[in-house]
Amino acid sequence: MDNHWKWPQIEAACRYIGEHFGDQLRQSSYPPHFYEFGVYKGTSLCLMHDWALKVGLGKPIIWGIDSFEGLPPEPFGVAPSPMFKPGDYSMAKENMLSTDACAAIVQGAANYHGCTATIIRDRFAELKKWDNMREAALVHLDCDQYGSTRDALFFLFKNQLIRKHTLLAYDEFTTGGAGPQMAHNEALHFFGAQAAEIFHYCYRDKKTNVMVRQAVWEIC
Ligand SMILES: C[S@@+](CC[C@H](N)C(=O)[O-])C[C@H]1O[C@@H](n2cnc3c(N)ncnc32)[C@H](O)[C@@H]1O
Repeated sequence: MDNHWKWPQIEAACRYIGEHFGDQLRQSSYPPHFYEFGVYKGTSLCLMHDWALKVGLGKPIIWGIDSFEGLPPEPFGVAPSPMFKPGDYSMAKENMLSTDACAAIVQGAANYHGCTATIIRDRFAELKKWDNMREAALVHLDCDQYGSTRDALFFLFKNQLIRKHTLLAYDEFTTGGAGPQMAHNEALHFFGAQAAEIFHYCYRDKKTNVMVRQAVWEIC
């Protein structure tokens, strides 16, 4: 777990699920479903698997969704964060591979790590629900921006994959632009949901001097 310090929200969310719902989940015959929007090379996805095991939740079923094209531009008129630009984190461009090849590589890495994960190569706005997707115990949103976070949350709410006590863990909640916070507020308002923040961690980005907030919210 070399990288666990980069994603404190994953540890916090898994510990919270373990403490509050561990017994219930262990008695259930179904493993919890975890979703990650923004997989890139799969590092934080494997961390979700490791923390679930560490807190005694057993192996989760993990869904990892990524276009592997990198960050898209924000919708017209939306203030972008100074921390990110379109095309950042394009695994396909960095490795001169097709996006399908990237998905296959990440799938292989996740399998090798021992994760029960399905890597889906898609843009969040075009994603369709798979038959065996179940309500999320945990959603990790690591797509940095307003537009992408909004597309991910609208997909989950529209397909009833968010329920009471689902945890929404954000690697970036505030980022000095419209950002994921605006998408979170918009999606909750649109679907008439409420959430309480149960964890946050703030740090200053060295390059841009922007204060970043990482956060976990519980649907209530
Ligand atoms: C910061 S990286 C994710 C880092 C990753 N969690 C890790 O462990 O290193 C953001 C990822 O989100 C993906 N992404 C951002 N917006 C997207 C969208 N609208 N649809 C699909 N993928 C998107 C990018 O392709 C990129 O791989």
